[in-house]
Amino acid sequence: MENLRNSDYWLDHFESNLMVKRINWNQKPCITPNEKQAIIPSLRAWQLGETSDGHNLRAATAKYADRHNDATYRDVIDLFIKEEQKHGENLGQYLDRIGVPRKKKDVGDSLFRKVRGLATNMEMWTITVLIVEHAAQVYYQAIKDATNCPLLREICTDILIDEAQHIQFQRERLSIIFNRKRTWKREIAYFIYHLHFKLTYRAIWLGHAKALQAGGYPYQRFKRLMHFKFNQSMCFLEKSLQHAVVPV
Ligand SMILES: [Fe+2]
Ligand SMILES: [Fe+2]
Repeated sequence: MENLRNSDYWLDHFESNLMVKRINWNQKPCITPNEKQAIIPSLRAWQLGETSDGHNLRAATAKYADRHNDATYRDVIDLFIKEEQKHGENLGQYLDRIGVPRKKKDVGDSLFRKVRGLATNMEMWTITVLIVEHAAQVYYQAIKDATNCPLLREICTDILIDEAQHIQFQRERLSIIFNRKRTWKREIAYFIYHLHFKLTYRAIWLGHAKALQAGGYPYQRFKRLMHFKFNQSMCFLEKSLQHAVVPV
């Protein structure tokens, strides 16, 4: 079990990752009409979801950082939000290039923003983001597999590389928060995390089933993979309780 890395480590990571350019924008998009029909309506909604200004997350982070004397964590979250916005901008650029307007409003996105707004503390934010990151990994893999357009595939690969680190980052932060809890509070937290997970991945399926299926993820496969990833994160929490060195 690795130690849980502190904010300085993640600040370095996000600063250097933001400098890396992995997409060749000289390529022309070549998505077919069939691929377009299967994935673009969903991608427009997902693109909107990646463009949040992070206002509520920043507010929760500020409170958390003050309480734990971890000012650097605010900078880390700023860079994390910036990286998510990069995903939104890259997908937006792609939509622009294929002549599809970016979405300004989406029912699912508005609902999800409202639910996220209810999460006022760092723990609820972290578990929410972690669950969505798991779904994002499956989603971008599905979009990548649903198209032969090299530019769109490259955009997905770039996001998938970022998301793998986001998951590690959020897992470690959730473990730090979880480690500070009393035993009985951990039991309640587990229950809430699981409930949150089940509601969220089902809602994501409802909104994006067609694109996920086009990428080779029918419901049972999507569900299995989501459970697998979530269980890995929960195992990480449990192991961190026994072995990890929690940074101050
Ligand atoms: Fe993202
Ligand atoms: Fe992410």
